[in-house]
Amino acid sequence: MAEIKCVGVVGAGQMGSGIAQLAATNGLDVWLLDADRDALSRATGAISSSINRFVSKGHVLRLLHDPLETLEFIFIFFEVRDDAMRRLRLTSNLQDLCSADIIVEAIVESEDVKKKLFKDLDGIAKSSAILASNTSSISITRLASATKRPSQVIGMHFMNPPPIMKLVEIIRGADTSEETFVATKALAERFGKTTVCSQDYAGFIVNRILMPMINEAFHTLYTGVATKEDIDSGMKHGTNQPMGPLELADLIGLDVCLSVMKVLHEGLGDSKYAPCPLLVQYVDAGRLGRKRGIGVYDYRKATQKPITPSPRL
Ligand SMILES: NC(=O)c1ccc[n+]([C@@H]2O[C@H](COP(=O)([O-])OP(=O)(O)OC[C@H]3O[C@@H](n4cnc5c(N)ncnc54)[C@H](O)[C@@H]3O)[C@@H](O)[C@H]2O)c1
Repeated sequence: MAEIKCVGVVGAGQMGSGIAQLAATNGLDVWLLDADRDALSRATGAISSSINRFVSKGHVLRLLHDPLETLEFIFIFFEVRDDAMRRLRLTSNLQDLCSADIIVEAIVESEDVKKKLFKDLDGIAKSSAILASNTSSISITRLASATKRPSQVIGMHFMNPPPIMKLVEIIRGADTSEETFVATKALAERFGKTTVCSQDYAGFIVNRILMPMINEAFHTLYTGVATKEDIDSGMKHGTNQPMGPLELADLIGLDVCLSVMKVLHEGLGDSKYAPCPLLVQYVDAGRLGRKRGIGVYDYRKATQKPITPSPRL
């Protein structure tokens, strides 16, 4: 398998832009693709300001393994940021990803849409390229079946936000080769990540455990056990989590949470995974979380017209 020098990332949303940032700041050339041109320009802004924050906090300096004086620090600050931004190229044309050694897909969590993309990627990617999915829950084996290279298809599940969270969960499909696994693990480690390996069953490791907890938090709210603030505060302070499950759901995206619950419900065939009706209703209402400005909580500026939530909520 060829050395990884160029990474393609499909989907420039919150996950794809973070994955592209990781690749660019770790010295790889990156093609970032999105069907939506606005998403690409939002991603460039988000990546640039995230690198600024990282560098100013000294995170990137850790990569340089060198104690620095202030002037050197400032010089390298600009070097690292400019080098990463130079390595990042944006496109809406799939053909541009033909030079990538690995393509990481981070588009909408829909099996049909992802399968179509994998089929198209299989047609344009070089024969040695790995096709990886950042899916939260969809079967890697089924995505691989849309291609003629199932041994080179793998799950590379970054956590949100990718530049900060330590874990990458690697999922082996039924036909994923050892060579593909080793190369993908090595790439995650190059990004400074800890890896775990999961077999290909619905939800893998992290979401199999995390999403039912989030779903249960929605049930707790839905049945009036407590307010959203008390549910989050209870779990935050009572179980030492950095944020409560409802806040976390808003960060992840309620649409993503709902999709994962549906996959768990269908894939594991147990009614305990049925999505909470309140979660379904929020998604139906377009309350998708932070990315939409409103989810369980309202993140919009006070100047905007406030919504009147139902008394129960
Ligand atoms: N949000 C999270 O916390 C999280 C964590 C881990 C994994 N994931 C997974 O990562 C993936 C992306 O999630 P996200 O939160 O970044 O979503 P997002 O909605 O922020 O971004 C998705 C992007 O994909 C683009 N897109 C959709 N279909 C496309 C297509 N066919 N071709 C090109 N671009 C397309 C959209 O325009 C959008 O910009 C999903 O599979 C999700 O399950 C999400």
